[in-house]
Amino acid sequence: MTEVAESRDLKLTHEDFERVRRLIHERAGIALALHKKEMVYSRLARRLRTLGLNQFRAYLDLLDGHPDSTEWEHFVNALTTNLTSFFREAHHFPILADHVRAQSGNIKVWCCAASTGEEPWSLAMTLTEALGSKAQSARIVATDIDTKALATAAAGIYPIAQIEKLSMEQRKRFFMRGVGSRSGVARVNPALSAMVEYQQLNLLEARWNVEGPFDAIFCRNIMIYFDKPTQKRILERFAPLLKPNGLLFAGHSENFTYLTDAFRLQGHTVYGLSSGPGSRS
Ligand SMILES: C[S@@+](CC[C@H](N)C(=O)[O-])C[C@H]1O[C@@H](n2cnc3c(N)ncnc32)[C@H](O)[C@@H]1O
Repeated sequence: MTEVAESRDLKLTHEDFERVRRLIHERAGIALALHKKEMVYSRLARRLRTLGLNQFRAYLDLLDGHPDSTEWEHFVNALTTNLTSFFREAHHFPILADHVRAQSGNIKVWCCAASTGEEPWSLAMTLTEALGSKAQSARIVATDIDTKALATAAAGIYPIAQIEKLSMEQRKRFFMRGVGSRSGVARVNPALSAMVEYQQLNLLEARWNVEGPFDAIFCRNIMIYFDKPTQKRILERFAPLLKPNGLLFAGHSENFTYLTDAFRLQGHTVYGLSSGPGSRS
């Protein structure tokens, strides 16, 4: 039986769903589409069961008006979409490699929607391959709102099938294969782990607990969940966190050109600062 069918004793009314949409928008900036009702139903029904509640309204009352409730963490974790993979949108990684090779000084990258870690680990592999021993002083700050995804990311353990698209050399160099009962999984090696620091960060928060300036910011496949004013606000806060020639990487369906003058398109879904080197102003 599917989880949806199992939970049919609960009813998510139109009013409940609208409340969910308002709450997740206020808390995480996520603009939940109307066709997501089924997803909301199945993911939150699980929380209601765990808490022994039999009405969505009671659950939403628990959140509404209680901004410090620990249930918020579960609510947000349940409604985020964590889809990702190693070297997703692969054309970005050679661009980053060329960029960091051309820099002097320690490299610092921010991955602001790190999800379950495949993206920051791909960044760490890229920096190691590009910088050799200099990569030891490179830092990747990897953040996400979803604490459960971050725990998976920090553990750095993945099913073998997930790392199969990496080259044989990368698998050998950057992963340790489990043995015995762990033979189906691989773990990132300590040298890679040492480069990445994971922490929770909600991009909607007034204060971001990250310290720039960064050589690159990866903000991929997250802006699509936000409305335009939120996207604009976030982009304008990225600008002062980048080094003058720093790069901002966007997801394949995200176009920042018309949102703000702070960035100019520099390559396929890669942006530089409008006020940075090479700009005409
Ligand atoms: C689809 S994943 C993208 C993962 C990765 N960047 C990639 O492109 O493969 C979107 C991520 O954004 C995170 N997210 C959603 N709202 C957020 C917010 N307000 N602040 C920070 N992260 C958020 C989700 O938890 C999720 O892990």
